[in-house]
Amino acid sequence: HQLADPAVPIATLLASPLQRPGDEGPALPLPPALYGPLRPNSKGADLACLHHRLPLFEAAERTQVPAIPMAERAPVEEAMQALHAAFPAWESTPVAERAAILRRAADALEARMPEFCGLLVREGRKVMADAVAEVREAVDFCRYYAMQAERLLVSETLPGPTGESNELRMRGRGVFVCISPWNFPLAIFAGQVVAALVTGNTVAAKPAEQTPAVAQRMVELLHEAGVPRDALRLLHGLGETVGAALVADPRCAGVCFTGSTQVAKIIQRTLAAKDGPIVPLIAETGGLNAMIVDSTALAEQVADAVVQSAFRSTGQRCSALRLLLVHERIADGVMKMIGGAMQELVVGDPVRWATDVGPVIDAEAHANLVRHVQRLEREARLIARTPMPAGLAGDYIAPVAFELARIEDLREEIFGPVLHVVRWGSGELASIDAVVDRINALGYGLTLGVQTRIDGRAHQIAHRARVGNVYVNRNMIGAVVGVQPFGGEGMSGTGPKAGGPHYLLRFCGEQTLTINT
Ligand code: NAD
Ligand code: ALA
Repeated sequence: HQLADPAVPIATLLASPLQRPGDEGPALPLPPALYGPLRPNSKGADLACLHHRLPLFEAAERTQVPAIPMAERAPVEEAMQALHAAFPAWESTPVAERAAILRRAADALEARMPEFCGLLVREGRKVMADAVAEVREAVDFCRYYAMQAERLLVSETLPGPTGESNELRMRGRGVFVCISPWNFPLAIFAGQVVAALVTGNTVAAKPAEQTPAVAQRMVELLHEAGVPRDALRLLHGLGETVGAALVADPRCAGVCFTGSTQVAKIIQRTLAAKDGPIVPLIAETGGLNAMIVDSTALAEQVADAVVQSAFRSTGQRCSALRLLLVHERIADGVMKMIGGAMQELVVGDPVRWATDVGPVIDAEAHANLVRHVQRLEREARLIARTPMPAGLAGDYIAPVAFELARIEDLREEIFGPVLHVVRWGSGELASIDAVVDRINALGYGLTLGVQTRIDGRAHQIAHRARVGNVYVNRNMIGAVVGVQPFGGEGMSGTGPKAGGPHYLLRFCGEQTLTINT
């Protein structure tokens, strides 16, 4: 009962022949990512993945994560100087050449799927299904942004009445600082970096301190694929010191940040306080994501979507479901079904085949979640908890669901496998519009799930909700590059959407050249 990939209906997965340890059978080729030369579709690729878990698990067993010390003071000054000096040559490199480097990187990533999956499982504490999906996403970002750069970064001649020649040119801005979180240490790290590079910027990349080895390997791969060493520098270190110094540096021409809302605001303040140019910030931040279930929803579908959205990836996705709003007419039945499904999840070591829910990222995250759960044990009603295997030691939190009296009892993002449920249908929450307004009032705006069988209701909700991604009658995680552009608004980010057709534009400067002919 491995949790299903979000792109594949659970019934299809259960019907497919899984290769388990001890099974015999020919190895199939590794599945291509979305923008590969051999592209069936993402569902076909996901199914093929299931036949490949065994060699990947063996690779993960063998993986040794290199120890990378976190410098208090990384060589920020030297790196920014080199990146600044390298910018004119990199910006002048034809976009086709930069795009070709991204495509070579994508091919190399695909070829090294076992190695990267091993690092994601060991260092990032991911279960294998998530590790495979993350490598595929990183590959997709490389190929998609290569394709988009060739489409967008062309000079456009503008017709006009002036009798002059007018041309609009897209170009790099300078040194982009890319700061990324630990929860997608490959896909988000690589997505930011290749977007900034392919648009002609040089890049100072600062990965999360929890996952430096994945980032280091990806940067080595990009250098091997042809990115000049001084066009991309990796700077390990703490956010408060190294990250802050990069943002404050006068040569920083743009910041692409993914992480918490709180840190995005610190960065925004630093940029605003700097002398000199106005520096743009792309921020993709946290979410307090809700799913609205009306009385017509299909209970089995709701239970499946809720369990995937709230507990897959140990709840450590920005897109994950935190707040389930279920109509009071069907609430008891739905909660019972969710509770039943939660009993089937397996908490354990990510290197084991059977594990659905691995540990959280570190002891600090574990302690914060334990405190939150202990508070809810006193103040809310326990709906269900996944059994914790006897003797399992480490930073594990069993998936747990609580019923709250009011939406406002949840005020901040809880980054782990904790589901909060509130009933609606009477009193202050009598109507769908009132429910959506209360969700909007929380101030975040990342993902929203809707479960309904009423025609037009999904559109009504999507129109009213101030969120970036709305998912109807399915789970609400795992946006696919180029298909479901991803990103939020309000406290969830500045936009634009990663994996979308407008993303690269934010990394570009524009110049209009008018010549009197
Ligand atoms: P975080 O904000 O603690 O850290 C993110 C990055 O910022 C790290 O590299 C960190 O070292 C750096 N940093 C910390 N303080 C800094 C400072 N003062 N100046 C510059 N850099 C600094 O976030 P996290 O714990 O790594 O990641 C989890 C958070 O990321 C969650 O809130 C999650 O919702 C969010 N997230 C959002 C998206 C999205 O696309 N919207 C995707 C993934 C994660
Ligand atoms: N892009 C990731 C998702 O959709 C965070 O779950």
